[in-house]
Amino acid sequence: KQGVLSYDPGYTNTACCTSRITYLDGERGILRYRGYPIEQLAGKSSFLEVAYTLYYGELPTEQDLRLYETNVAAHRTPHNDLVKIISNGFRSDAHPMGVLASTMMAMGTLYPEANPALRGNHVYESHKVREKQVFRILGTMPLLVANIYRSQNGLAPMVGFDTGDMNFTESFLCALNWVEGKQYKPNKKLARAMDVLFVLHADHELNCSTATMRQLTSSGVDVYTSVAASIGALYGPLHGGATEAVLKMLERIKSVDNIPAFLDAVKNREEKLMGFGHRVYRNYDPRAKIIKKIAYEVFEEVGQVDPLIDLATELERAALTDEYFAKRKLYPNVDFYSGLIYKAIGFPTEFFPCLFAIGRTAGWLAHWNEFLEDPEKKIARPMQLYKGHGKRDYIEVFSRW
Ligand code: SDX
Repeated sequence: KQGVLSYDPGYTNTACCTSRITYLDGERGILRYRGYPIEQLAGKSSFLEVAYTLYYGELPTEQDLRLYETNVAAHRTPHNDLVKIISNGFRSDAHPMGVLASTMMAMGTLYPEANPALRGNHVYESHKVREKQVFRILGTMPLLVANIYRSQNGLAPMVGFDTGDMNFTESFLCALNWVEGKQYKPNKKLARAMDVLFVLHADHELNCSTATMRQLTSSGVDVYTSVAASIGALYGPLHGGATEAVLKMLERIKSVDNIPAFLDAVKNREEKLMGFGHRVYRNYDPRAKIIKKIAYEVFEEVGQVDPLIDLATELERAALTDEYFAKRKLYPNVDFYSGLIYKAIGFPTEFFPCLFAIGRTAGWLAHWNEFLEDPEKKIARPMQLYKGHGKRDYIEVFSRW
């Protein structure tokens, strides 16, 4: 058989893109949104302020932030048809991420003004039209996820309630178990912890789901279809689905006594250490450090320390002192500890990727806007390095053996 060739297509590679949104240094474990270190944003900012900064490129003035929060809150109520789709369109065991992606696709048909297929690509030239989609998608995400949770837990659908002075995340936590006539006061500490998790998950350069967002945007589809596809990419167990996989892994390991045998299974490639490793970080994921600290604050607030956190901490220690992981520069990533927080707050494991999606929607929309503001707008066409056969002639079927 002829040797395989390597072939350089010669065109400029449109797979990688230039962006001004997030800076990542995998060797030194550095993450900055629009130049601001993630540690400072996690400590001082809010999710909506970070969503604003990712999209517009600058921290908002107090007045701009209040206007942005008002616009997002004004779009908090999902269209009735979407709530109907969620509450009776799906089997109760449909995975929440699948329901969320399908609901996002449905949104695209409800708001034709945002659909280039119907209105032509010029529809997104208007900065105002783009902002309107951002308010609507970011605004409805919490109640879409809350209604998926409610429908899968036998609670009545809910299109909205008087949130009073609740912020984005407080109203989300209240919507999950809200009951008609019952006043809800959100737990401010848990809501703050969730808000910081949304900040930490908001963007991460050209990760798999954000690359998906940019790829679809480059082909000219509507923003709802692009977000739905990005939700699909995020769902994968090697990406946003890893949070769910980490908890299932810890529950399988059960006790610190089983850690050595588990790590041997990883080294024999019979297991993966979920929540460890990264395509870019060759150092500790800066988000994992912050999340581990939040975990203990949440446990203190809920008054119960999940024994799995001690197991996770011992598993981390054992892996970080093991030559196999050190040589491969495998460290905890954003997913290693986040599931323990979601579980302590009361979310079932299958909901963890939806929580990741709420935060990451801010980044997807910032990249969507950045692509549409690029005068070039070249369609994405990742370059392939051909490793197949060179030219060869057809062989008649009776001559093949
Ligand atoms: C996220 O891209 C992003 O930014 C993603 C994300 C974001 O915010 O969007 O950060 C979110 O997706 C975090 C990652 C969540 N996924 C997991 O935790 C799943 C477990 N992790 C692995 O599957 C893996 O680390 C990946 C998928 C994350 C990265 O895979 P790579 O790029 O193939 O890993 P690598 O090239 O660094 O691997 C080097 C070696 C290999 O072994 P050798 O062939 O050299 O012997 O390390 C091994 C890998 O097999 N390895 C692991 C491992 N991760 C890598 N071995 C065991 N367990 C692991 N988790």
